[in-house]
Amino acid sequence: MAPMNKLRLGVLGSGTGSNLQAIFDAISMQRLSAVVACVISDVPDAYILERARSHRAPAFHIDPAPFKTKLEGEAEQRVIETLRKHKVDTVVLAGFMRIVKPGLLRAFPGRVLNIHPALLPSFPGLRAWEQALEYGVKVTGCTVHFVDEGTDTGPIIVQRPAPVLPGDTPETLHARIQEQEYLAYPEALQLLAAECLQVEGRRVELL
Ligand code: GRF
Repeated sequence: MAPMNKLRLGVLGSGTGSNLQAIFDAISMQRLSAVVACVISDVPDAYILERARSHRAPAFHIDPAPFKTKLEGEAEQRVIETLRKHKVDTVVLAGFMRIVKPGLLRAFPGRVLNIHPALLPSFPGLRAWEQALEYGVKVTGCTVHFVDEGTDTGPIIVQRPAPVLPGDTPETLHARIQEQEYLAYPEALQLLAAECLQVEGRRVELL
């Protein structure tokens, strides 16, 4: 059998990068056929950059100014140039706290993925685990999806459930959801690497 192509991942994150760590772990355990080609953060001291460097992955801070909540204009161009320079074929949003705009989506058509800490379409937007707790659902989870121009609306690739337990706080529930994220993101990426995904409208079919 021909060896599977390796995805060249460009990971964008603003926080601790525990999902990036799960991706590194899946690669080293040969559960994911990929290489982390570069990591970019909008936050200069984000721990995700440390994690990247400790795995010898090129890591960059790109100042998103003047925008506070989105990636657009000159910063978006610099991100696209950096991704291209590192021959990225798949953009992985992993805790990236900015709205990505059509410029990035057009540069990598059908190749931008995000992970959201809820079972979409429930609880899109910020602090989804708090929304789940406040609403009183008994099950929540995480969703890996292709990114489109809406907020948390793109075609769904993988979902994994996590129970909401009596006595949960936002922190305990988020931690339980994250355990599922660490399985879901590598799984979704491996499906992409193996060319097992076909998008039809808003449905993702498994081949
Ligand atoms: C995750 O919960 C993810 O679902 C959300 O942001 C968090 C990122 O965590 N989009 P980390 O930086 O990967 O630890």
